[in-house]
Amino acid sequence: MFDVNEIRKDFPMITNHPDMVYFDNSATTYKPKRVLDAMMEYYTSYNSNIERGDYDTAVRADKAYDHAREAVAGLANCETKEVAFLANVTAALNQVAYGLAKDHLKEGDTVLLSEAEHASNLLPWFYLSRQKGFRIRYIPLDKQANVDLEAFKDCLDDTVRVVSLAYVTNVLGSVQPIKEICRIAHEKNILVCVDGAQAIGHRKVDFKDLDADFFCFSSHKMCGPDGVGVLIGKYHLLQEMDPLLLGGGMNARFYADGTYILKDAPVKFEAGTPNIEGVVGLSSACEYLTDLGMDRINAYEEELRRYFIGKIKDMDQIVLYNPDNLSGPVTFNVKDIFAQDVAGYLASKNIAVRSGNHCAKILHEIIGTDQSVRASLYFYNTKEEIDVFTEALKGLSLESAIDVFI
Ligand code: ALA
Repeated sequence: MFDVNEIRKDFPMITNHPDMVYFDNSATTYKPKRVLDAMMEYYTSYNSNIERGDYDTAVRADKAYDHAREAVAGLANCETKEVAFLANVTAALNQVAYGLAKDHLKEGDTVLLSEAEHASNLLPWFYLSRQKGFRIRYIPLDKQANVDLEAFKDCLDDTVRVVSLAYVTNVLGSVQPIKEICRIAHEKNILVCVDGAQAIGHRKVDFKDLDADFFCFSSHKMCGPDGVGVLIGKYHLLQEMDPLLLGGGMNARFYADGTYILKDAPVKFEAGTPNIEGVVGLSSACEYLTDLGMDRINAYEEELRRYFIGKIKDMDQIVLYNPDNLSGPVTFNVKDIFAQDVAGYLASKNIAVRSGNHCAKILHEIIGTDQSVRASLYFYNTKEEIDVFTEALKGLSLESAIDVFI
């Protein structure tokens, strides 16, 4: 039984703001008390650096940090040695792009992306394509940004070496067929990197079953704290890949002549003192989600989304961009009203959404606009909140939107 009213009590942001409707969960999610407590316990009971101290609290910090790899591996079904902690999904995607560009890509090669990607899965490739001379091409998408597998196959000429795609896109919530994409790509020895930021907290992710080569995500979009991201990679690929950052903790030896020996993956990707409290919080978030059950979370979110679409799709003034996608945010415009004015009007009703281009600045090639309003749900949202939202939208006109600003 998925008792959303009980679940809501776990989140101080909800109990502290009982009248607020928070529909900006694709930007960041709220954190349950259990996660906040875990981080506070680290700071109040065993605050120490890791992998450097032999005293009790340092050993406890080491254990908590190592346990976090087990918690991530449990959530995503991978090996603990395949889990590296970085600053966020952006850092993880940059690490993959730099690592592959350095030793795997050369002039004339192709990296396949899509026009629905977030900046963090485009800009590193843009920069590196100029440095290394490889080409970027975009996989054709339908109007709701879904990859068509036949069109994908048609893209796979002999120059393609890497595919990098979001599992769930951040504006339209398109769920890409990553397992099939990996199978098809691997037949041609093409590596697949997955931006899993909008997937990991919303659906069951099975790294082994997907057979992706790299899977990256951020903690803060899955009930964990800010400032921590995860790079999961097949171990032999992580071992082959050079780290982007060098420093303490990740080297085994270095010598006065300038030579050095790095530790094995995943530690070689974790230069410097890591975000220990963040990793401890992420660990607790993984366990919280695992306890709730990812399949139950996903089923409830899909039910909420169907309810939302049912209420909004026939409203005259609404242009809806992703009615048929099963998962993810509901993204729309209100005819004749600028998206940010809609968001401002909704904010005046204590409803939080995001407006603008949502860091997906070439998605307009697909949906024909670079401004939209995005209402993104999570498992602690309710049908009653959707009712509040749609009632507020009914009261929106050009005049009421302008009234908010004068
Ligand atoms: N990447 C986050 C979003 O889509 C910030 O809103």
